[in-house]
Amino acid sequence: MTKRVAIIGAGPSGLAQLRAFQSAQEKGAEIPDVVCFEKQSDWGGLWNYSWRTGLDEYGEPVHGSMYRYLWSNGPKEGLEFADYSFEEHFGRAIPSYPPRAVLYDYIIGRVEKANVRQWIRFDSPIRRVSYDQHDGMFQVTVKDNLKDVEYSEKFDHVIVASGHFSTPNVPYFTGFDLFKGRILHAHDFRDAMEFKDKDLLLIGTSYSAEDIGSQCWKYGAKSITVSHRTAPMGHKWPINWEELPLLVKVEGNTATFKDGSKRDVDAIILCTGYNHHFPFIDEELRLKTNNRLYPVNLYSGVVWEHNPKLMYLGMQDQWFTFNMFDAQAWYARDVIMGRIKLPSQPEMHADINRNRAEEEAGGDDYAAIKFQGKYTMDLMAQTDYPDFDTDGAIQAFFEWKAHKKENIMTFRDHGYKSALTGTMAPKHHTPWIDALDDSLECYLDIKS
Ligand SMILES: Cc1cc2nc3c(=O)[nH]c(=O)nc-3n(C[C@H](O)[C@H](O)[C@H](O)COP(=O)(O)OP(=O)(O)OC[C@H]3O[C@@H](n4cnc5c(N)ncnc54)[C@H](O)[C@@H]3O)c2cc1C
Ligand SMILES: NC(=O)c1ccc[n+]([C@@H]2O[C@H](COP(=O)([O-])OP(=O)(O)OC[C@H]3O[C@@H](n4cnc5c(N)ncnc54)[C@H](OP(=O)(O)O)[C@@H]3O)[C@@H](O)[C@H]2O)c1
Repeated sequence: MTKRVAIIGAGPSGLAQLRAFQSAQEKGAEIPDVVCFEKQSDWGGLWNYSWRTGLDEYGEPVHGSMYRYLWSNGPKEGLEFADYSFEEHFGRAIPSYPPRAVLYDYIIGRVEKANVRQWIRFDSPIRRVSYDQHDGMFQVTVKDNLKDVEYSEKFDHVIVASGHFSTPNVPYFTGFDLFKGRILHAHDFRDAMEFKDKDLLLIGTSYSAEDIGSQCWKYGAKSITVSHRTAPMGHKWPINWEELPLLVKVEGNTATFKDGSKRDVDAIILCTGYNHHFPFIDEELRLKTNNRLYPVNLYSGVVWEHNPKLMYLGMQDQWFTFNMFDAQAWYARDVIMGRIKLPSQPEMHADINRNRAEEEAGGDDYAAIKFQGKYTMDLMAQTDYPDFDTDGAIQAFFEWKAHKKENIMTFRDHGYKSALTGTMAPKHHTPWIDALDDSLECYLDIKS
């Protein structure tokens, strides 16, 4: 009987998995019966922008954490699909930091070409995944939101591709309950225009803080204060932007920081990251990790060591994204199709420990980028995923970091060489700081 594979999520990771199976089929292989369950009404994961916050129309937590005017925060040369270049999709080379709508178009272009939408059941949140020792199958329970019914099906394999940047980590600070302005997490941030002419306090120093702060500044916030727990970001910020130690308390509208300084603020955005959250997976199968390069219990970063019929995609801290998800998806496919033999559980465990020790010995961001580049390369080498110049992609990341250091408000004006086609990205027609229209038409300069 044909094996059945359930994929949870139709974001970039789940779509990579569909494309991996379809590419094997295209080459004449007999593939398993694949069903992808997606809780949203459309594909693209986080890249499928949602104006909603809180709960969706069915009472499900809204998955979307992306906001209007979001542009890629890393060079597209670091994420290009090795089987589908930007030049193939757009018919020409495009600049290096596309806005969300342009990347969405690119992600979708590949899976439309592969004709895999038919394998996806939309409006279908997974409610439960459990493993039955007797028949060696997973029982997957799904809610069909359109029909308002719950049902269960059996699968030989489950691939969890439900993302990990949707369940906010929300710390409390003294006085929040009486604060006179608005407090929100980055997950619920949608439109920088809301904070025009406002004094804004951001907590956290990673990508959300950097990018949401930059956006609000760009769209006319009066001032930006960023509060750090560990260390300031340390960029050369504009004059109405400052970095202060950790927030201690708020009284009325006044925020007090660890060094005793005080600032009056209108709104507070918690850019404090996300939690890996899989309430629908049975305890003994559930990944529990912080955001890191080599999460526990995942052999090759993918295979659940205690039950290799279960796999997780895209659960790592992410420098590489789409092409790493692809490398993982091709690997997962080949494990399922018996093309890759897994070692014993103790051997897998020892290998995970080796990789974690290597991650921990790594040190700075440059070491992390190299670590993840090597990880991606090692996976690719085991499958027929097309080769790309991983060292070239690493080089693009290194140049990106240097450009950010040089000027955090102009780094997106630079271009890099494609690790796939070797083409140098052209300059964008407008510097990022002046580009207020993030539509695909404007970015690609398509006249209507
Ligand atoms: C604000 C923000 C900006 C980012 N910007 C960039 C960027 O510029 N460049 C970059 O490379 N990466 C960026 N990322 C990283 C992002 O994680 C990846 O680009 C990518 O979206 C991850 O793909 P994924 O498929 O693993 O997860 P997701 O994109 O999160 O997709 C997961 C899918 O699973 C579905 N799902 C979840 N739970 C269930 C369930 N129970 N049942 C059924 N379906 C479910 C969701 O609806 C979703 O469609 C950004 C992340 C955030 C939060
Ligand atoms: N334009 C874009 O493309 C864009 C924009 C936004 C986000 N993203 C993506 O989204 C993902 C998530 O980024 P993120 O910045 O949201 O999360 P993150 O990288 O996990 O960073 C979380 C931040 O919150 C801080 N923090 C956590 N708990 C805290 C607490 N209790 N008090 C004070 N500070 C606390 C951490 O500080 P410590 O350093 O002290 O731990 C860290 O600075 C990344 O992959 C990123 O690339 C992309």
